[in-house]
Amino acid sequence: MVKPSTSPSVRKSPPGPRGYPIIGCFPQMASKPLQFLTNAAREYGDVVHLGSIGPQQLYLIAHPDCVKYVLQENPQNYTKGENFQEMKLVIGEGLVISEGDSWRRQRRLMQPTFHRQQIGGMVNDMTGITAKLLERWSQLGSGTTLDIYDEMLLLTQNILLKTTLSIDVDNGDTTDLIPAWNTIYKFLSDRLWAVFKPPISFPTPKNRSFQQAVNTLNSIANRIIQQRLQGNDAPNDILSMLLSTQDESGQGLSAQQLHDQIVGLFSAGFETSGAVLSWIWYLLSKHPVVERQLQVELSTVLGGRTPTVDDLPNLKYTKMVVQEAMRLYPGAWVYARNNLADDEIGGYHIPAGSMLLLSPYVTHRLPAFWDNPEGFDPERFSPEHSVGRPRYAYFPFGGGSRQCLGDIFALTELQLVIAMVSQHFRLNLVPEHPVEPNPLLTLQTRHGILMTLEPRATLDNASQLDTQNALLTH
Ligand code: HEM
Repeated sequence: MVKPSTSPSVRKSPPGPRGYPIIGCFPQMASKPLQFLTNAAREYGDVVHLGSIGPQQLYLIAHPDCVKYVLQENPQNYTKGENFQEMKLVIGEGLVISEGDSWRRQRRLMQPTFHRQQIGGMVNDMTGITAKLLERWSQLGSGTTLDIYDEMLLLTQNILLKTTLSIDVDNGDTTDLIPAWNTIYKFLSDRLWAVFKPPISFPTPKNRSFQQAVNTLNSIANRIIQQRLQGNDAPNDILSMLLSTQDESGQGLSAQQLHDQIVGLFSAGFETSGAVLSWIWYLLSKHPVVERQLQVELSTVLGGRTPTVDDLPNLKYTKMVVQEAMRLYPGAWVYARNNLADDEIGGYHIPAGSMLLLSPYVTHRLPAFWDNPEGFDPERFSPEHSVGRPRYAYFPFGGGSRQCLGDIFALTELQLVIAMVSQHFRLNLVPEHPVEPNPLLTLQTRHGILMTLEPRATLDNASQLDTQNALLTH
């Protein structure tokens, strides 16, 4: 096992591919980020030097123990800030990107809102919004082709709007928030791998429409918060909880902080879940044995009814499907840290001011920790198969004190949506449709995921499935 070294005498630089002066390995990385980083870890090992971009050294931290060191054992030396300058223009100083005392206070204030018990109270909203999607699909009829990526993004967006702000898009509530957010997200995603980026302050048409979208988003968020602050109604949603939260000295979040949290939740809370869901449908369509096993569980536990919060612990295989899908296609596929002081990781010297990439996509596929790493096998996450696996061999939600605040929200949502949709529809991948990951801010697909709807007569007992299985295997 590799242990991060603590010896101050070690000044060894990690190995890595040869890069170009000034731009390092950026061109290779930008052209095929997933393959490039996965191969780099397999070829060069636990910590890889990816050259320098300008004056800044760039490293990939791949080994689980080294990831643990950065996220959990020495987090005070690692900041997010510098990598989020552009995002800051949108989400201000909210929890997602703040640092130090400001982050600590916000996290303390927000944490209770995302406790398992509070999330339990959001289950009806999650299933209600999903039921509306199923109703719409039922009207479309068998054989209809849909881009499941778009559908899942819309679903998770609607769930977030309902649980956060009580906005019910399916019931006719309209909001300019969605198009504004989509413009912002596309703009920031496009810039991620761009070699030439005109400063955002330049009045180019793209910059102008980005700025306009940010203004729209800000004014909508402010309007909603002001209405709540002035009005008497307090719907049961995340905004209400944030409005009533207080620290030990009786102080709550200011209007500006509320704004930053709401916009921050929007930035963190639906693109990832939507992307993961669409990957799950893709994987299930390619693995009929897993799909059948899932059906057996749904039939046994639910027998065709809508899941409730009490069913979640019994939907064990459903959860394993979600976990395994997030191993192969983690929505947050990479994130970055900057180190404040010199450090040593895995026996290598990392100079202060470097940029470190942590990639669940890469670490989740390391052959040293995962047999047949490219294969889709939810059984890996059964208790007996999980024994002995290092904690940070799997970190789709990050780790340490900055672990995803919405992990329980996301896992609950994913389990419920899979259980509901799978009971009513089989989703078949359109043959020949190319499905290719597109690593932007989240792990998207380059051409969407085209699938046809096949309504399923609700299977109300497992024996029906067993008969089906028997027929299929003969
Ligand atoms: C499958 C879905 C999701 C994935 C894969 C995911 C992943 C992550 C990861 C990896 C981080 C840590 C990033 C870092 O350390 O730099 C993070 C942070 C965060 N996530 Fe999620 N997330 C998901 C869903 C959600 C949802 C649904 C919400 C809220 C409704 C949410 C809210 C947040 C917040 C507020 C943070 C910042 C926490 C902090 O810095 O203290 N996430 N997420």
